[in-house]
Order: sequence, then structure tokens, then C-alpha cells
Amino acid sequence: MIEAFYLGLYLLILSPLLIYMGWDDGMIIFWVLLALSVPGLYAMVKGAPFLPTTRKRVKQMIKIAKIKEGQKVYDLGCGDGRIVFAAAKEGATAVGLELSIPVYIWAKVKALFYPKVTIKYRDFWTQNYQDADIIFCFLLVQTMEKLEKDIWPTLKPGCKVISNSFRLPSIKPTYDKDGIRVYTK
Ligand SMILES: C[S@@+](CC[C@H](N)C(=O)[O-])C[C@H]1O[C@@H](n2cnc3c(N)ncnc32)[C@H](O)[C@@H]1O
Repeated sequence: MIEAFYLGLYLLILSPLLIYMGWDDGMIIFWVLLALSVPGLYAMVKGAPFLPTTRKRVKQMIKIAKIKEGQKVYDLGCGDGRIVFAAAKEGATAVGLELSIPVYIWAKVKALFYPKVTIKYRDFWTQNYQDADIIFCFLLVQTMEKLEKDIWPTLKPGCKVISNSFRLPSIKPTYDKDGIRVYTK
């Protein structure tokens, strides 16, 4: 994923050269937009596309999470940050990880008003989750398979993974209703 970030940066750095070469404005704008989209496109293919959880479902997931003051919460691919902001309102210290630049910037700006929220421009596969009490996710089938293989074994006992829509392939949920699944380590 970080390679995608550098590819985007590289394309962006090339822009002045294209102006020098006489590319017209439309092509330059297209090029800059392409450069900014590369990490998001990579995240879309390798993780999940940006599709926000509905407000109604955010409320349900937060209710089910039963967040206690000071708990550490992560959202894997936080999008516009709606879940981490809702979790912070319940007293959590919340971290949102995101690679798609437009939504990352949007969440980062909103986080200025939420002292308990940190929004990181980071590939969620590279984060350490040993301090996580609750992990929220809304990903894809193949991403959940990788999550079970790579992240689940690193979680501390009692940590809850709360997934919108998708299942961990071979772990039995402790809650499973209306498309929301909770897995307790
Ligand atoms: C379906 S959206 C969910 C957004 C948010 N969690 C919500 O429920 O509203 C998935 C998000 O994960 C992000 N994403 C996918 N792979 C990622 C990765 N490896 N690291 C960080 N973000 C990633 C995408 O850019 C997208 O915004």
C-alpha cells in the first residue's frame, strides 16, 4: 500500500514536467487527479472501496459495542471517520486508518473537533493492534480472510471485532444479527 502512496507522489511530482512539456490544462488536471487517486484505488482493490456505513447502522454498531470510557477503538479503513467520531462520543480513544486521500483529508479536518480521535494516513495491515479493545470494519470477503489470518492472532483476549456485513471465515461470532457480526477474542 505504501508503494501506491509513493507511486501517487511520483506522478504528482511529474506534473511540473508535463506543464513544461506543453500538456494542456485538462490533461494536467486529469494527471493530478490520477496521482491523488492511486492510493485510494489501490485500497479499493486490495482492501475495500469507500462505501460509508449508514448512520442507522453506525448507531446500532456503537450500541452493540458497549464502549466503556477510555477504551481503545480502531476502524480499519475509517472512510469519513463516522464510526471513530461516534465511538469517541461514547468515551473511547479512537483511531481511524485510511488510505484514500479525499476521505482521509475530510476525516482529518473533522478530527480537529474531536480531541480523542486520531486519523492516520496508514495502511491498516501495518498497524499494531495489541492495545485494541474494539475494532470496527466494513471490508470485503477476501479482506476478512486476511484479517483472520494476520490480525486476529495478534489481538488481546477480550478484544472485539465488529464487522459490518462480512464474516471472519472460520470464527464463530458472539453476536450475529441484521448483518452486524461481533467476534470476541
Ligand atoms: C467500505 S469503506 C468503510 C468506511 C468506514 N469504515 C465506514 O464504515 O463508514 C472501506 C474503507 O477502507 C479503506 N481501505 C481499504 N483498504 C485499506 C488499507 N489497507 N488501509 C487503510 N484503508 C483502507 C478504503 O479506502 C475505504 O475508505
